[in-house]
Amino acid sequence: MTTKTDLLYEGKAKSVYETDNDDLVIVEFRDDMTAGDGARKETMTGKGYYNSIITSKIFEVLEAHGIKTQFVELTKPGTLVVKKLDMIPLEVIVRNIATGSLVRTFPFEDKTPLDPPIIQTDYKSDEFHDPAINDSISIALGLVTQDDLDFIRKTTMKINDIMRDMFLDAGITLVDFKIEFGKDKEGNIILGDEISPDSCRLWDVETQDMLDKELFRKGQDDKVIDAYEEVFNRLLNDDDKAKWNL
Ligand code: CDP
Repeated sequence: MTTKTDLLYEGKAKSVYETDNDDLVIVEFRDDMTAGDGARKETMTGKGYYNSIITSKIFEVLEAHGIKTQFVELTKPGTLVVKKLDMIPLEVIVRNIATGSLVRTFPFEDKTPLDPPIIQTDYKSDEFHDPAINDSISIALGLVTQDDLDFIRKTTMKINDIMRDMFLDAGITLVDFKIEFGKDKEGNIILGDEISPDSCRLWDVETQDMLDKELFRKGQDDKVIDAYEEVFNRLLNDDDKAKWNL
């Protein structure tokens, strides 16, 4: 068993702890929800439970398709053991359908399918408020090399293909999402952080109802947990639930 020791980092929705194993950390998914660069903060009871399990399921499916992730084990709902990574401070955003800032910033019509998908990157920094960044700036800042970026782009496209199919099987359209990568101690680039309704736009295929954090951003707080539970119920099968005692 991996035992947590010192608090290493506290983010907006997750806390990361050192463990008795130098190569592993424990991530606790909290029920905190923030929006608008931290301007709004609420507690959504059950969010940590659902997001930790949804992340575990997605990371397992990605691993089964040959994508390296930091996932090791869901020890109990809310708590993951993961490989320790040196995180790359880039938010890699993939868009399959134009909406949100893309239609506010550029002349795309809302809900236009994007084929091929668009990849954008933001610089992950509270101090600088996550500005958009490009390859040249990322390299000039010493965050990554061109080879790293090529690998990240190729891997991101594969992740998108796998996740789109997975969600479609669950009757959900994967509109857009954000992922983060880190390096392990051998320098391999590995998928880290979380993939959950906090970090994806998810629409019901039939009704186009939102099933993600956008509900919170739009002030429909009472619908948030039901939507996350819906995603959980559609993605997890009976075997998953038995394996994790859910
Ligand atoms: O499209 P819009 O600008 O409104 O949102 P965005 O911040 O560019 O987000 C695009 C996608 O990435 C959405 O699915 C967000 O949930 C996700 N995202 C995230 O999870 N965390 C961030 N810090 C930024 C984006």
